[in-house]
Amino acid sequence: MIEKMGNLRRTNYAGELREANIGEEVTLMGWVSKERNLGSIVFVDIRDISGIAQVVFDETTNPEVFEKATKLGSEFVIAVKGIVRMRSSVNTEIPSGMIEVEASEMKILDTSEVPPIYVKDGDNVSENMRLKYRMLDLRKPSMQNRLITRAEIAKVTRDFFHDNRFVEIETPILTKPTPEGARDYLVPSRVNEGKFYALPQSPQLMKQLLMVSGMDRYYQIAKCFRDEDLRANRQPEFTQIDVEMSFVDVEDVLTINEQFIKKLFKDIKGIDIELPLQRMTYSEAMERFGVDKPDLRFGFELVNISEIVKDLEFRVFADAVANGGSVRAINIKGYQDKFTRKDITNLEEYVKTYGAKGLAWIKLTDEGVSSPVKKFFSDEAFEELFAAMDAAEGDLILIVADKDEVVFDSLGNLRNKVADILELRKADEYKVLWITEFPLLEYDEEAGRYVAKHHPFTSPMDEDLEKLESDPGSVRAKAYDIVINGDEMGGGSIRINNSELQNKMFTQLGFTKEQAEEQFGFLLEAFKYGVPPHGGIAYGLDRLVMLFTETGNIRDVMAFPKTQSATDLLTDAPISLSQEQLAEVHIKVL
Ligand code: AMO
Ligand code: AMP
Repeated sequence: MIEKMGNLRRTNYAGELREANIGEEVTLMGWVSKERNLGSIVFVDIRDISGIAQVVFDETTNPEVFEKATKLGSEFVIAVKGIVRMRSSVNTEIPSGMIEVEASEMKILDTSEVPPIYVKDGDNVSENMRLKYRMLDLRKPSMQNRLITRAEIAKVTRDFFHDNRFVEIETPILTKPTPEGARDYLVPSRVNEGKFYALPQSPQLMKQLLMVSGMDRYYQIAKCFRDEDLRANRQPEFTQIDVEMSFVDVEDVLTINEQFIKKLFKDIKGIDIELPLQRMTYSEAMERFGVDKPDLRFGFELVNISEIVKDLEFRVFADAVANGGSVRAINIKGYQDKFTRKDITNLEEYVKTYGAKGLAWIKLTDEGVSSPVKKFFSDEAFEELFAAMDAAEGDLILIVADKDEVVFDSLGNLRNKVADILELRKADEYKVLWITEFPLLEYDEEAGRYVAKHHPFTSPMDEDLEKLESDPGSVRAKAYDIVINGDEMGGGSIRINNSELQNKMFTQLGFTKEQAEEQFGFLLEAFKYGVPPHGGIAYGLDRLVMLFTETGNIRDVMAFPKTQSATDLLTDAPISLSQEQLAEVHIKVL
């Protein structure tokens, strides 16, 4: 039954046939997407990467080919030759819906078993089945289109950085641990018994060495590996657009990178983004939005109401302020009637996952104020509160009292949650901004010491340098993130470029001299021989593709992703190894 292509060659892509092709003889090659046998006529939808075209096999005009067509099944691979003609019943759902191809010749290039998943967008088969049969899943137009967009983004990236004198340089995959804060994937060395490589969490140190080398401007579309807890927008193996440049300060890096962002939006989405992009300091972002990656597509900004409520009879509010925390609120303006008590109870459960102990609420209805904390408020206190919150009838005020950290985290996330419920986060609306002046260090309660907020090579801001030893927690860094629609799309910093400061930084982070030497000796060595001021950024390529293809699932923008538990259902990786294989790399499994 299976035949060779012989001298048949594809002349056209199925999905690209149009009225202009009517009368032409074409040869199409692809998969049987759908077949309908109407007795003396067989209709087949043939699918290739461009889309679908309808092919007609007619018993009266071509009985031999018709006979063959009756044997076709889903996902058979065929080559069809025929004449393009007008379709009697136009299909407005597909771009080639005006025409069909009347088959004069057909070859079955391969048959197919009944596919375990239906090759159709929107089919609600489980994601695990889709991952196991990824080659079939990737036949779906939506999946193919996302991979095509991904390739286009990579091309725009290469064009932009190449045109701006950045040199694309590959850095090693078998390397030494890089300190990006996740766990490393380790690879045993066979030749060097008991020794291991680490897969790079990012090319951070290599790109800095390239600046020391005088390569001036570097970029790479780089595979990175991080053994961390996975979330909707994280994979253990992902791709960065990694960039570094010499003789620059913060402003220079932001300026050239926002030109890149502008070009991406223009070339990929046809959208004009206005430059310069909005800039917001980390502390302003926290104060106004509770998070360092604010979604600016909607309001509901945080308001500190501590002063207004600290003397009320309500202990929860008074205690939070007395203990150095705060009481903050958001006004869900105009939407009070969208939230029932039950809905608010659900919101309360939601903020509890961020450590809040409760969620106080005030509804301003046409029948007056309704609230579980109403009894604690005097008329004046309400008046003051409503003025501060710019509140009017129709509004819903949501309040959290706690340590600042908990208040920010719960209200910051609640803002997004409420906007999701109200469908205010439109996938095709884009709000892009830089967050700047991140704290250099973060106190890690568990470890009982400071850790780098970005990474240990990030430069403090010049004006805060003198506080590095006296008040490390208050030092701001020359670090920035690019945030789009509430997601961190990329982040970077200006680096430390002298060994004295780098050593001070290691000391602050609790490294002994020996530990610093052992882990980063090669960098410290490089720092002895003339380091240019330098800095850069890395974007999450996968996240950019998610943004531009409007999907919330990172697995949908990768050809062969891993599950939430870091397994590959297609190949079954990771696997156990035989005793011999383990012995060869000197490993004993406990
Ligand atoms: P950072 O760790 O912030 O910086 O990473 C940069 C960007 O990479 C993306 N990203 C991820 N995407 C998918 N899955 C993951 N597990 C994952 N982890 C990170 C994010 C993030 O913004 N070397 C520095 C950059 C620099 O300083 O130049 C770095 O790696 O979009
Ligand atoms: P209670 O007096 O404990 O029943 O609480 C009255 C209201 O205050 C309820 O709506 C609680 O959800 C809310 N509440 C309790 N603790 C907090 C808190 N830390 N911050 C904000 N609201 C709270």
